[in-house]
Amino acid sequence: MRSLLFAANWKMHLGPEDARAYLKTFRARYNRRDDRTVWFFPPAVSLEAAAQAVRERHDLVVGAQDIYWEPKGAFTGAISGPLALQAGAHATLIGHSERRHVFGETDEDTRRKVAAALAVGLVPLLCVGETLAERDAGHTTAVVVRQLAAALGGLDAPALSRLVVAYEPVWAIGTGRNATPRDASLVHREIRGWIAQRGVARLRVLYGGSVNAKNAAELLAEQELDGVLVGGASLDADGWAQLVQTAAP
Ligand code: PGA
Repeated sequence: MRSLLFAANWKMHLGPEDARAYLKTFRARYNRRDDRTVWFFPPAVSLEAAAQAVRERHDLVVGAQDIYWEPKGAFTGAISGPLALQAGAHATLIGHSERRHVFGETDEDTRRKVAAALAVGLVPLLCVGETLAERDAGHTTAVVVRQLAAALGGLDAPALSRLVVAYEPVWAIGTGRNATPRDASLVHREIRGWIAQRGVARLRVLYGGSVNAKNAAELLAEQELDGVLVGGASLDADGWAQLVQTAAP
């Protein structure tokens, strides 16, 4: 049975109080299903509140949106893997396109962050994806492979088998323009191929970019997709519960 992962990236929304109210609603509306888990990525200030709100539910997981690679020290504004873990995180996004393109994060930064997450036992959810110019120039595969190689090139198979990858074409994020299921599945195959060459037979690959209640079922009908990473459409607890419940049979 395919095990689906529905990841909600709240971005810079939902403070601690909002997070508690959201998760109360979500838990009331969502009837647990054994074939899927739901991951929530609240802003750092809401991590602990969110983790508390899901604590006795193994199908609901909380993660950080980003970590810095140093475990502690004089790094104003940053949070480390150990701090995220202490707040209740089990996973962390790494290299989300907004980190790369708004905050100037480099491929080398993603490598250090993946290593830091694995070192502390957080599941890294590495985001990769091309810009529109890169897609139009026919460089989608080259860009995705470069991002994979930079972030993961130094890892052995046991380490690789612990992570999740999300393919999020930059041109599809927050734009209302999602990749077609076929576009997504071609890139997913490339990602799996790259990982398989390194001795890992099975890796979860999610799709992200303008996923919503209308297109989620069609996307998830593609067997190459192990789940979705969702921003905008995850912000409403009712809508998200509905999407998770119904997007796949
Ligand atoms: P979106 O964001 O669903 O709002 O396009 C997805 C993401 O950035 O992870």
